[in-house]
Amino acid sequence: MIIILLGAPGAGKGTQSEFLERRLGVVHISSGDLLRDHIRRGTELGKVAEGYMNNSLLVPDDLVIDMIVDRLAEPDAAKGVLLDGFPRTLPQCKALDNALHGQRKRVDQALYINVARDMLVDRLSGRWTCPEGHVYHEKFNPPKHDRICDIDGKELFQRPDDTREKAEKRLAVYFEQTLPIIGYYRDKGILCEIDGERPIEQVTEDLLNCLK
Ligand code: AP5
Repeated sequence: MIIILLGAPGAGKGTQSEFLERRLGVVHISSGDLLRDHIRRGTELGKVAEGYMNNSLLVPDDLVIDMIVDRLAEPDAAKGVLLDGFPRTLPQCKALDNALHGQRKRVDQALYINVARDMLVDRLSGRWTCPEGHVYHEKFNPPKHDRICDIDGKELFQRPDDTREKAEKRLAVYFEQTLPIIGYYRDKGILCEIDGERPIEQVTEDLLNCLK
């Protein structure tokens, strides 16, 4: 099964991926996590991507497409994939279709978590992240102990692109460059839209209902 998770920065894609990966037994592939890993390892891709990400811009399509196509070719992807943060532009949608077509696969379901723009900046600027990827929010989803991950006890940090100013810019990029791809999947008849302003557990249930 190939599922893509769509939604603005802060809509809850990473939060929901944690639950869906476990419930569905698929592999969670996040383009943002892969890019941040390249930056940490100091690869050529990481060095180029860092400049775009620090400026809240999308990394060029060809670089991201190659990275995702390579990841989809890894053996664990054969058990099913949940794509988070990719595709983000129409060329990325088409490149994904072509890559899957070559493996006699296709996107089975596009899940769209819809959250109003004014709520997204509050979500991003209050987010705290664990080095292992678990996400919290200082008001909406706080950890049991201040700045410590409930799951692995690691110290939480704030992503450098989660300042209010950078969040506003990422949202502007999303509404201009990424929102149009919702229509691409709606036209294919595989889009399921859910209200991402409901509590986290209810959003999970709604997403699972889309997949029934
Ligand atoms: P990426 O890492 O993909 O970030 P993003 O899409 O901007 O998404 P976020 O991770 O910020 O938000 P999310 O939807 O996962 O929200 P979360 O669950 O954490 O991309 C980073 C950068 O990499 C991009 O800017 C770009 O430069 C580059 N990039 C990545 N992919 C690319 C691509 N395909 N092409 C080109 N460039 C690319 O939730 C947010 C907060 O809300 C948390 O605090 C959480 O606790 C809280 N929350 C979640 N759900 C709820 C709820 N229901 N109620 C209340 N609070 C909630």
